[in-house]
This record gives sequence, structure tokens and C-alpha cells, in this order.
Amino acid sequence: MTYTVATIIGTRPQFIKEAPMSMALRKNFNELIIHTGQHYDENMSYVFFEDMEIPQPDYNLNIGSGLHGEQTGRMLAAIEEVLIKEKPDYVLVYGDTNSTLAGALAAVKLQIPVGHIEAGLRSFNRNMPEEINRIATDRIADHLFCPSKHAVSLLKNEGIEKNVFLTGDVMYDACLHFLPIAEKKSTILESLGLTHEQYLLLTIHRPSNTDDTHAFMSIMKGIADSPWPIVFPRHPRTKKVIQNTAVQKMLSEMPHLKIIESVGFLDMLYLEHHARKILTDSGGVQKEAYFLGKPCITLRTETEWVETVKAGYNVITDNDPEKIRQAIHVFDPTHPQENFYGDGNAAEKITESIKKAFNL
Ligand code: UD1
Ligand code: UDP
Repeated sequence: MTYTVATIIGTRPQFIKEAPMSMALRKNFNELIIHTGQHYDENMSYVFFEDMEIPQPDYNLNIGSGLHGEQTGRMLAAIEEVLIKEKPDYVLVYGDTNSTLAGALAAVKLQIPVGHIEAGLRSFNRNMPEEINRIATDRIADHLFCPSKHAVSLLKNEGIEKNVFLTGDVMYDACLHFLPIAEKKSTILESLGLTHEQYLLLTIHRPSNTDDTHAFMSIMKGIADSPWPIVFPRHPRTKKVIQNTAVQKMLSEMPHLKIIESVGFLDMLYLEHHARKILTDSGGVQKEAYFLGKPCITLRTETEWVETVKAGYNVITDNDPEKIRQAIHVFDPTHPQENFYGDGNAAEKITESIKKAFNL
């Protein structure tokens, strides 16, 4: 008998985590992909299925955007309906978004075992919606797949030691697998007129930086006199703040800032790999900067990926213009790095753990 694993995804970073997972899972299980539709723009969803050759979702629930409670609630109801109909033997959820929590909750209430990929992460900042999603998902999931020793130790501090697996990070798997493909296929630097190592890469999407015009303008102030051009693939969440009149005026005086639409994963990996430095408030981008040995300037008050800071490759500046400026001009680690995130076989290890749960 072949068991069915339902994979629940809905946002950009989840598609990226799903790519290596799907390849490993499908060697041993039937996979049923449920896309919640939390992200729906072509360049926030479709492009990743294309770039990474992820099988098309079996269901797209088309939930779309909304307030947290409303969005999570609609997902919960819609996922429940599919799970009742399809009766999968196992459910996998990824990371810390509303799609993660809704998927885990729908499954546990139907008594379907749940595995949480990227378990054990904490920012200790409960103002972040993700922190609540992570804590709740780790509490209710049956199997916790941790990307790092630090994540395992954080769970231990919360008294969670059973069914915790140190597997490494599936994003590292994705980076190793897709970087050579990106190197062959991407032409983004030429099309932007940028030169290797002679530009910075910027991403911003946290509510604390996008929903607060002052915070966004502080970041802009910090990058205003960058000696390198800066490419900024814009998350849809930044649309509103960029249209603000004061922000528009500020941006008109920053010709070195190239704002582009969000890019697919191959172009993004290529941009990361050839950047001089990376500025971001993204969790995934901080890690990819580390995998690729790039200095990372984190536009947040804290990070879950503390190893990258301890290793001296990530500096936390929040949206403080002077700290950002300093980091752009001065921060330049070159020492050898340690590998904290596994050996690039996290997806295989997670699959092996799920097999054991079925005595396979
Ligand atoms: C979500 C996750 C966040 C993750 C991020 C990855 C939650 C609470 N947040 O944040 O953890 O880091 O995805 O990118 O789950 N929008 C579009 N088109 C889209 C998607 C979104 O225009 O395809 C716009 C809508 O105006 C929407 C806003 O972006 O209201 C925010 O989208 P949402 O999915 O709620 O949160 P993200 O900021 O994307
Ligand atoms: N990413 C991408 N295109 C972009 C910006 C980001 O492919 O224009 C990728 C990035 O390489 C990383 C992931 O999206 O793998 C990170 O997702 P995001 O920053 O949206 O969310 P987070 O990781 O903070 O949850």
C-alpha cells in the first residue's frame, strides 16, 4: 500500500521549501498538494512551480488576502473539507505562515498526523504574526523537523523533546539544487545592467517595515548614500508604502535604487549569489545569504537565525539609518563559515522519519 502525504503550502517561501521535499516524498509516497492561495500573483506563486518544476497543486483553495483571523479561518474550513474528502495518511506543513497554522489545525482536529518542517524557530517577538503561528504549530504537530541544533534546543527549553528530529534545512537543499540551474539560466544581471559584486540586493516585506511609513523611510535614509547600486525586488506588501507621496519624493532622489517586481527563484538565487551584500527583513533571504557566504544586513530588531549572527555574517540593524549606513560601508566578513543547516539532504531525512512513522 502506498500512503498519501498531503502537503499544505500557500506562500512564496513554502513553494521553495516544497520543491526539494516533493522530490524526496514522491519516491516513497503519493503526494497531494493543497495550495491555500494565500499568495496568488503570478510572480508570487505560479513562477515558483515553473522555475522549480513543482507538480501542479491538486487543489488551489484561492483563499487570497484578508485579516489574520478571517484568512486563517477560511483556510481552516477549506482545508478541512479537502482532508475529509481525500483522507490523506499524513499532513506536512512548512514554516510559520497563516497557511501553516490553518493546515496543522485542520489536520490534528481530524486526527491526521502532522509533520512541521522548520520547527523550533523563535524570534521571541510576539508582535510578529509568525511567532504565534510557530508556537501554536509546534504545540499541535506530531513530528517536529528542526533545521538546526539551535531549534532543537529551543524546543527542549519549552519541554518538547519527543518526536523532535534534527534534519537540516530544506532551504539549504533547495539552494544547493537550484544554484547551478540559476547560474545557467538567469540573465537578470545583464537585463538590469548590473555587474557581479558591484550591487547590493534589498528585500523588505515585514509589516513592521512596510505598514509603517516612518520605518520604511528610515531604511531608505540608511541606503541613500550607498556606494553601490541597489536592486530591490518588491514584495506586493510594499506597494502601498511606495505610493506614499513623501516616500515617492525620497525615492526620486535615489537613482541608484532599482525597484523591480518580485522575481522567480532562479533569478533571486542568481541575484543573491552575485551581490556584494544583502539587506533584508526576510527569514529565507537571511539564510540564503549565509549559504552563499554573503554579508547580510538584517532590517529587523532580532532574528530567528541566530547562528548567522554569531558566525559574524549577519548584522542586525533594524531600520536604524546610521546602523544600516555603517553596515553598508564597513561590514565585510571574509572568515570561513561553519555549516549549521545540515548537509543538503534534509528532505531525504524528513522523508525517512515519515517512513518510520508508517513502519516502512
Ligand atoms: C506572508 C506570511 C509571512 C511570510 C510572507 C512571505 C503570514 C501571517 N505572513 O506575509 O510570514 O514571510 O508571506 O512572503 O502568513 N499580496 C498581493 N499578492 C499576493 C500576495 C499578497 O498583492 O500574491 C498583498 C495583499 O495586499 C496582501 C498583502 O500582500 O494583503 C500581504 O499578504 P499576506 O499573505 O497576508 O502576508 P505577507 O506579507 O505576504
Ligand atoms: N524570493 C524570491 N523572489 C523575490 C524575493 C524572495 O524568489 O523576489 C525568495 C528568496 O530567495 C527566499 C524566499 O523567497 O527563498 C523568502 O521568502 P520571503 O522573503 O517572502 O519570506 P520569509 O522567508 O521571510 O518567510
